[in-house]
Amino acid sequence: MAIKDDDQVCYCFHVTKRKIVNFCRNQKPTYPSQISECLSAGTGCGWCVPLLKKLHRETCPGAAQPWWRQPEVPDELTSAAEYGSAEEYAAARKAYLCKKNAATSFEKN
Ligand code: FES
Repeated sequence: MAIKDDDQVCYCFHVTKRKIVNFCRNQKPTYPSQISECLSAGTGCGWCVPLLKKLHRETCPGAAQPWWRQPEVPDELTSAAEYGSAEEYAAARKAYLCKKNAATSFEKN
């Protein structure tokens, strides 16, 4: 079971997959970061950014970046775009936030 059109992709700003895909089809953003103009998707915790990039690649194939302009993304973030269901995706985001918060509090101490 894949993430459905009405499932949230960005939990921080409650943006669904349908809104992002429609934004990409209508606005044809050149860069994945421009998806943030769609209800601020991707500008919170950062969890959904790999999936936003994947949706951008799938929806705007002509806007693909040359390899020298593609940022390197850690494996754990890249894999975030591979979840088969909304429930798995949401659970993985919780783990991501816990790990991120633990790293942040470690840096403060
Ligand atoms: S889930 Fe999208 S920025 Fe946090």
